[in-house]
Amino acid sequence: MPATRSVYVCQQCGASSPRWSGQCASCEAWNTLVETVVSRAANAGANAGARSARARERAASAGSAAISPIGGVSSAEASRLPSGIGELDRVLGGGLVPGSIVLFGGDPGIGKSTLLLQLAGRLAAAGHATLYLTGEESASQVRGRAERVGAVVDGVGLVASTDLATAVGAIEASAPALAVVDSVQTFASAELGGPAGSVGQVREVATRLAEVAKAGATCVALIGHVTKEGTVAGPRTLEHLVDAVIYLEGERMGTTRLLRAAKNRYGSTDEVGVMEMRSDGLVEVADASRFFLESDQPPVAGSAITIALEGTRPLAVEIQALVAPAGYGSPRRATTGIDVNRVLMLIAVLARHAGLNLTGHDVYVNVAGGLRIEEPAADLAVATALASSLRERPVREGTVLAGELSLSGRLRPAARAERRMAEAARLGFDRMVTGPERGSSGARPPAGQLVAAADLRDALREALVKD
Ligand SMILES: Nc1ncnc2c1ncn2[C@@H]1O[C@H](COP(=O)(O)OP(=O)(O)O)[C@@H](O)[C@H]1O
Ligand SMILES: [Mg+2]
Repeated sequence: MPATRSVYVCQQCGASSPRWSGQCASCEAWNTLVETVVSRAANAGANAGARSARARERAASAGSAAISPIGGVSSAEASRLPSGIGELDRVLGGGLVPGSIVLFGGDPGIGKSTLLLQLAGRLAAAGHATLYLTGEESASQVRGRAERVGAVVDGVGLVASTDLATAVGAIEASAPALAVVDSVQTFASAELGGPAGSVGQVREVATRLAEVAKAGATCVALIGHVTKEGTVAGPRTLEHLVDAVIYLEGERMGTTRLLRAAKNRYGSTDEVGVMEMRSDGLVEVADASRFFLESDQPPVAGSAITIALEGTRPLAVEIQALVAPAGYGSPRRATTGIDVNRVLMLIAVLARHAGLNLTGHDVYVNVAGGLRIEEPAADLAVATALASSLRERPVREGTVLAGELSLSGRLRPAARAERRMAEAARLGFDRMVTGPERGSSGARPPAGQLVAAADLRDALREALVKD
């Protein structure tokens, strides 16, 4: 008799059933049953309605719980392992945490295998054994990439398999500092009927590997491809099973790659890492802020620079706008790197509060360098770039913009304006147009550097060159 069996667990209510059916018999939701492994021990100890991970946990703790004095437990901070890749450490919150599981998600071809193979090589070179489990490519393909990125290092072990039990066995046997599993969608448990990549398999692979990580000091790095819906292997399937989720993003044709944490039990989710894809792998960008500035030429019409605050790091970013008379039909509005709805709002604010009507114009807005801007403090730069393009007047030289626009056309100052101005000054800008001060703290920039504008009209007057 096998030690484990599988049941179908409803992803909505948690009820289980021995057979698959289209509708959950308990909560009557449709298409929510997913095949899940249940161990016999767990099954004996817990009721059949429990989910597998929980059931196993309960079974494990049914005997006696080991109680440790809190002072005797070492903190994750103390044992963090610097990855050797500064931009990755920044996003992880200081390095890899032993005994944790981190999901690296991203589009196919964006560079996930490259990054993690480089990481395996760096750690091995620093004397920490690593294991690279490849289910996607053959061992010789991985070896080929390792040659290209300098990861042919003693201490990097390679396992080519798609079997979960083999992967678990290899990690347990060698107890490496880092185990890369490439990818969660290609490994499968023989205990489940579904094919690799199905929701049940992906959950089982992640659950099992999380247990292996927790049981020892190995950091498991799980690679996951982003699905068509834009999530790793189905909505929220994996995010709650892992300690951290790091996305590798970028335009495939471009070379900029951004690392961003979507979840991090051991650090902030605000930091971004900036890397560049080269023929010898991903390299850190030395001066990330300067990197996003397209050129150091005098400004041209349609371009405005903002200082974005991504986490604790200020980044100078160029916003480019093109406004052109529209043809027949409804005018086009297209954006890259910024939410199109935010731009539509700013177009309306420009019309209503600055007398700049774009109804008859096509509008394109682009954030240079492949960065994606989420914070509203970029509003003023976007609105200024649009106004600059429409009026064919560039932004005054040496000027950056940072502030949030309200629907009433009023301008709010950017949070931590002084920090942003300091970065602007470092890059050679001498004034920042922003909203009126709300009572600031910390170091004040020299008078004249921060130009407080009350509203959009006022800000545009300060920002654009005079006729
Ligand atoms: N021989 C090469 N020279 C330069 N860049 C390469 C080479 N081979 C692959 N790349 C880069 O690596 C990318 C694929 O990276 P990879 O790590 O395999 O992505 P993922 O694992 O996310 O699917 C390609 O899109 C390309 O940019
Ligand atoms: Mg890959």
